[in-house]
Amino acid sequence: MTIQDARGLVLSGADAATAERFETALAEFQCYVGNPVGTIEAALQARPDFVLGHALRGYLYGSSVEGPGLAEARASLAAARGLPATDRERQHVAALEAMATGHFDDAERQWEALLVAYPRDVLALQIAHLFDFLRGDARNLRDRVARRLHAWSKADPGYHAVVGMHAFGLEEMGEYDRAEARGREAVALNARDGWGYHAVAHVLEMRNQPEEGVAWLASSSDRWAPDSFFRVHNWWHLALYHLELDQLDNVLALYDGPIRGERSAVALDLIDASAMLWRLLLRGHDVGDRWRELADAWTGAIEDGVYAFNDVHALMAFVGAGDRARIEQQLATLKRSAQSDTNPDNRAMARGVGVPVGEALIAFGQGRYADAVDRLQHLRPIAHRFGGSHAQRDVLDLTLIEAARRAGDRNLLAALASERAVCRPRSPLAGRYLTQALAA
Ligand SMILES: [Fe+2]
Repeated sequence: MTIQDARGLVLSGADAATAERFETALAEFQCYVGNPVGTIEAALQARPDFVLGHALRGYLYGSSVEGPGLAEARASLAAARGLPATDRERQHVAALEAMATGHFDDAERQWEALLVAYPRDVLALQIAHLFDFLRGDARNLRDRVARRLHAWSKADPGYHAVVGMHAFGLEEMGEYDRAEARGREAVALNARDGWGYHAVAHVLEMRNQPEEGVAWLASSSDRWAPDSFFRVHNWWHLALYHLELDQLDNVLALYDGPIRGERSAVALDLIDASAMLWRLLLRGHDVGDRWRELADAWTGAIEDGVYAFNDVHALMAFVGAGDRARIEQQLATLKRSAQSDTNPDNRAMARGVGVPVGEALIAFGQGRYADAVDRLQHLRPIAHRFGGSHAQRDVLDLTLIEAARRAGDRNLLAALASERAVCRPRSPLAGRYLTQALAA
């Protein structure tokens, strides 16, 4: 008997129990809760010939874009190769191969070809959406989802996640009203949809509505935080609102609590910690030995060199800690990535954005502010090429404006303060920059 998933797609090598476990793992992945790796590994233990299970396991590990995660993805690839598979499943294996070997662009092409033929393949959509995010591809964050909507209805299992992904894509494309409505729709469909809460959080960040942002995330944390492997990032968004409101005690309480309290060694979590401490550094706050702790946590990945966005955030921690040796080591990794023969997408990210941003952060840390300005000023329009969201890359804008202020570049400070105050009319920080610029 042919076994199918809940959307009518064939699952080779599966029995009914395996299909049920696959749905559970998929549902966990779609909400970023539970332990989808453990769930799918249990399924694979029972049915080692379940080819799509290997693909899901590989995707889950590979989407960490950490060296060890990509190695696990290659192990899944080896297990999947040669198993009986449908055409669709073979396309998944080919995409997994591209992803696991650092050919992210090729992987995206595979997923897109697959999705044109099988628009209800929500696993392909979910992993492609994550890599659109990791590659800073705003257009596809929105439209790769939109191209699938013709095949979906509210009654389909997992529809909430499609809506939540669409919400985030709309937000990254600046369609804030539609994005907010879609994000709220996603969490109304499934109260545990962490990506849906996150999409609305981004809207409130970009619209500069920090009070509304605090209300949104703080009032719903009992739904998005428990058992979520994405929770640190949503806590970080909550801390960002508090920072925008100059509520430093709340920021540090969140940092020491849900953001960093568990001392996670996962890059996804470390990025948020670096990004928050760097914002505090720009504001001149002494964060005590938090930099040292964070730098130590990043050190295990210092030679990783598989994703420049991670490496730049690691570098922030080493600059913050004032650790010359590790700064040099991390910069060398970025430069090596920029010349790599084996990972073409990260090579482009490192070469175009990672290395110059890294050098700018080092310059800032060493008090060479005019140098930091020179390196950052013309980089902002292309910074999306190394991935992340607008809200994450705002750290570059913040570094540039503070570097301009410290360099005594009054005209540039006035220009950048004007830009920021127009974008964020209620921001005390933007107001302070503008006041200072005009006084000068
Ligand atoms: Fe975010």
